[in-house]
Amino acid sequence: MRVAVVKERRAFERRVAASPDTVKRIVGMGLDVVVESGAGEGAWFGDAAFAEAGASIAADEATALADADVWLKVQRPLIGGESGADELALVKRGAALIGLLQPAQNPADAEAYARAGVAAFAMELVPRITRAQAMDALSSQANLAGYKAVVDAAAEFGRAFPMMMTAAGTIKAARLLVMGAGVAGLQAIATGRRLGAIVSATDVRAAAKEQVESLGATFITVDEAASRSAETAEGYAREMGEDYQRRQRERITEALKRTDIVICTALIPGRKAPILLTSAMVAELAPGSVIVDLAVEAGGNVEVSRPEEIVLTPNRVKIVGPANMPSRIAADASQLYARNLLAFLGLLVDKDKGLKIDTADEIIKATLLTENGAVVNPLFSAPIAAEAAASN
Ligand code: NAI
Repeated sequence: MRVAVVKERRAFERRVAASPDTVKRIVGMGLDVVVESGAGEGAWFGDAAFAEAGASIAADEATALADADVWLKVQRPLIGGESGADELALVKRGAALIGLLQPAQNPADAEAYARAGVAAFAMELVPRITRAQAMDALSSQANLAGYKAVVDAAAEFGRAFPMMMTAAGTIKAARLLVMGAGVAGLQAIATGRRLGAIVSATDVRAAAKEQVESLGATFITVDEAASRSAETAEGYAREMGEDYQRRQRERITEALKRTDIVICTALIPGRKAPILLTSAMVAELAPGSVIVDLAVEAGGNVEVSRPEEIVLTPNRVKIVGPANMPSRIAADASQLYARNLLAFLGLLVDKDKGLKIDTADEIIKATLLTENGAVVNPLFSAPIAAEAAASN
């Protein structure tokens, strides 16, 4: 069985789907690995490191994919002439494609995978069960994004984070507010605290309160009763009603008067991100304040954030909208994502080192989009996919 790793070709993507460490482990499983030359450049993994780990280096993508049984990806491949390329056309029928394929945002892609005859697996759909923790790419990437958001905010901020008492006077500690205390938010809280900021946070899920407080931050409760039913069985947030949203805006507007930095991380799987900061709310912040909107690609938590831009508001608040934050910390993000893929790959190899797709396994069943030329995932069968596209 041959596993291929190619250079990512989508905009703002510096990560790679394997590291020298995971290549070594895949080779140790008895599989062949081929890496396209330059695939790891954005993450500081050179061809030589991959070769030393046991991979063969292919001069170009077509060569890397020509005989691949498994194709490891970060982002979904370019399809049907996008940016002048059709990466799907390079892989043989029957191969497995594994990546962060964003099926909810791109429901039509499933049809293309089916037409190409690939067995496509979306890493976003890995269920949050104990056995799958090592495969949880959303968490591994969100954790680093939360860290980097605070570091980027600190870089944009014209003041220091910690309180400093010096002979020339005292500097006040910065006040950081984290909106959405999931994986990214909790890491943003921890990072802000390490840098010496005074941190508060809010979330719709009741369980978040204890987690926030255990990190030494203050939790801002909006509506305790509503919070108790705000979490789905999968551990994600539900979309909240109008009344909750109004009350949240009131509570947060009040908090913004005492805030210098806001990190927004609130997401609702498969839906547009909720708007948590309107322009009127942003106007409450003092000049020089910084907002980082990690949800910008999902529509944004901030009314006026723009992907890959730093918006300066009339009251001189900077709103940073990073597209693909994990890619901005590409070496570590690749390292962890590659380990997620390695763990997942372990489910796909049979005892004779061949590819097996065992849909009796709930992780395989949940992540598999297409097989044998058909869309097999009920979440993305044609009528539902059309509905999802219409609501996006
Ligand atoms: P996410 O990335 O989907 O959303 C980020 C955060 O935004 C969540 O905490 C969510 O509750 C919050 N949010 C959504 N709408 C909001 C709103 N209107 N106002 C304020 N906050 C809002 O979620 P993420 O980070 O992937 O994790 C969600 C939960 O799943 C966390 O409790 C996490 O600890 C848990 N989890 C469990 C795992 C497991 O059991 N294996 C693995 C990873 C995470």
